[in-house]
Amino acid sequence: MKVNLMLLNLKQQHNLIIEMNDMFRTSYCGLLTSEHVGEEVTLSGWVDRRRDHGGVIFIDLRDREGIAQVVFDPDAEQHFQLADSLRSEYVIKVTGTVRKRSTETINSNMRTGEIEIYGTFLEVYNTALTPPFQLDNHVSVGEDVRLKYRYMDLRRSEMQKNLRFRSEVTSTIRNYLATNEFLDIETPIMTRATPEGARDYLIPSRTHPGSFFAMPQSPQLFKQLLMIAGFDRYYQIAKCFRDEDLRADRQPEFTQIDIEASFIEEEDILNLAEEMVKKVFKDHMDINLSSFPRMTYDYAMDKYGSDKPDLRIPLELVDIKDLLRDIEFKVFSGPANDPECRVSALMVPGGGVLSRKQIDDYTKYVSNFGAKGLAWIKVNSIADGIGGLQSPIIKFLGDEVTMEIMTRLGVSDGDIVFFGADKYSIVSESLGALRSKLVEDLDLYTDDWCPMWVTDFPMFEKTDSGDLTPLHHPFTSPSCDSECLKNDPEKALSRAYDLVLNGVELGGGSIRISDQKIQSVVFDILGINEDEQKVKFGFLLDALKQGAPPHGGIAFGLDRLIMLLTGSSSIRDVIAFPKTQSAACLLTDAPGSVDNAQLTDLSIRTLHQKA
Ligand code: AMO
Ligand code: AMP
Repeated sequence: MKVNLMLLNLKQQHNLIIEMNDMFRTSYCGLLTSEHVGEEVTLSGWVDRRRDHGGVIFIDLRDREGIAQVVFDPDAEQHFQLADSLRSEYVIKVTGTVRKRSTETINSNMRTGEIEIYGTFLEVYNTALTPPFQLDNHVSVGEDVRLKYRYMDLRRSEMQKNLRFRSEVTSTIRNYLATNEFLDIETPIMTRATPEGARDYLIPSRTHPGSFFAMPQSPQLFKQLLMIAGFDRYYQIAKCFRDEDLRADRQPEFTQIDIEASFIEEEDILNLAEEMVKKVFKDHMDINLSSFPRMTYDYAMDKYGSDKPDLRIPLELVDIKDLLRDIEFKVFSGPANDPECRVSALMVPGGGVLSRKQIDDYTKYVSNFGAKGLAWIKVNSIADGIGGLQSPIIKFLGDEVTMEIMTRLGVSDGDIVFFGADKYSIVSESLGALRSKLVEDLDLYTDDWCPMWVTDFPMFEKTDSGDLTPLHHPFTSPSCDSECLKNDPEKALSRAYDLVLNGVELGGGSIRISDQKIQSVVFDILGINEDEQKVKFGFLLDALKQGAPPHGGIAFGLDRLIMLLTGSSSIRDVIAFPKTQSAACLLTDAPGSVDNAQLTDLSIRTLHQKA
């Protein structure tokens, strides 16, 4: 997908209050156009490239706004010699006159491509070593090198664009929230555990030997306390810390747009958040999003096999359990007769082109989600009935059932149908993931941007060990009363909602529990006994007894939002100094070992010594 970022031109958008220091520059390189022809300008920046064209030296000079071409000829003798000594990434100042390029040298790919600067003065502020990689050829070097020399990587125009875009979007969001009377209030980083389902990063205390602060997985508890304190509407661009398995859209340290409000219900937060996202799309992408569709968690799982469905894809899972109850083929009839199972089909238009090898690869892929196999039927010619189908399983299904399935799916020639039969969650997850993968591989997207809400989540899910764990966090309000919650916690739904964009969970929130007794019931269900409740969350339970207003909120992953808007494949590309998949910073070599004296101060002895 081609993404059109609307980067605001700072000069045009803002009246700069502080003038440039003209000892260094009178303009940014990248902002010069033919309007400036005839003007004398001073520019400062980095040498992007030096070229020697038969006695004339061309310097591509770069700053954050772009590149301008500077020409030195031998008439400016001393400066010409200095220009000849320049190398990539030297930091220099140039003074010269803007002139039009000759017609044959105009570069229409560059903003400054119609002009060049005839250099009359050159000063070198600083030399530079040969860069660790060519900035315009970063792809060949691998991310590790880019991260180790991040300050060089960040000089690339793509990274400059991404971070500037991030800054501009953040600024829009701040303005939007401030205009809606939200107060920006900071909450502590050194705190007690705020559970959001990940491990905590801990900070040992020197003054309380053996005790630890936890870094917040989110500001959840503090934002609720701010509501109890009467601030009514809070937001924060908040750093959060989670020690969890990392993926392309997860970092151990990431940023949330964190929002909370009092005396509101779901509709208020959903509208506020939706308008905020629409504004970002309008102002920064020139895209008018229409109203976000909503669907319940159950519906999303049934139709798309995912609680974050990618609606850019029209494909849906179709249940065929009722057609398979009486067939001999146990692989299908077993699950078809088991209430905890589902049997579903996924029709992929044009998927008939897939080879046996590709189907085998997809079978391997779904096995990662627990699927024991991946049955399929190719539709060669539906007009020929059963004879026009190709599959190893028709003989097990029988002709009649096979054709009934084909009719239900509305297949056409050239399609393929995949089947899943197993526990509900295994079929949903495996066919849901297959749906996304196939659509990407076969490029079946029919839309660019599909934001949507998922609502009515279950309060809890079962872990592998059979315990209940919150689907969101334990402060989420149930939509039933405490009696129903106690009696059948597995059936209880919550007042939570997630905002999903193109299959990525962009934000999540809920109406909170504001009644201390219900909060205790939830902790009980989670197996947190009274003593533990007091130790871990006593402050919250106390606060809930001191007049807590009805309240709720949401948090967006800012990094994910920017990743999607910039068309980046990883959130690392929109974070200035990200960590690797193994949660390390290659630039600073963190985490690092500390000396024994420091450990002793903290009353800590480690089991591992770094070699
Ligand atoms: P949740 O845990 O859903 O909710 O987080 C909110 C949003 O934060 C983003 N996110 C992440 N981004 C990058 N790296 C990570 N490791 C990571 N983890 C989460 C996601 C997610 O949707 N306190 C609640 C919010 C609330 O109830 O108001 C919370 O943190 O985009
Ligand atoms: P089998 O009889 O096990 O060789 O399976 C016949 C076909 O059904 C093969 O294409 C398998 O990949 C597929 N299959 C087996 N188990 C399942 C399952 N649980 N769900 C979907 N397809 C399956």
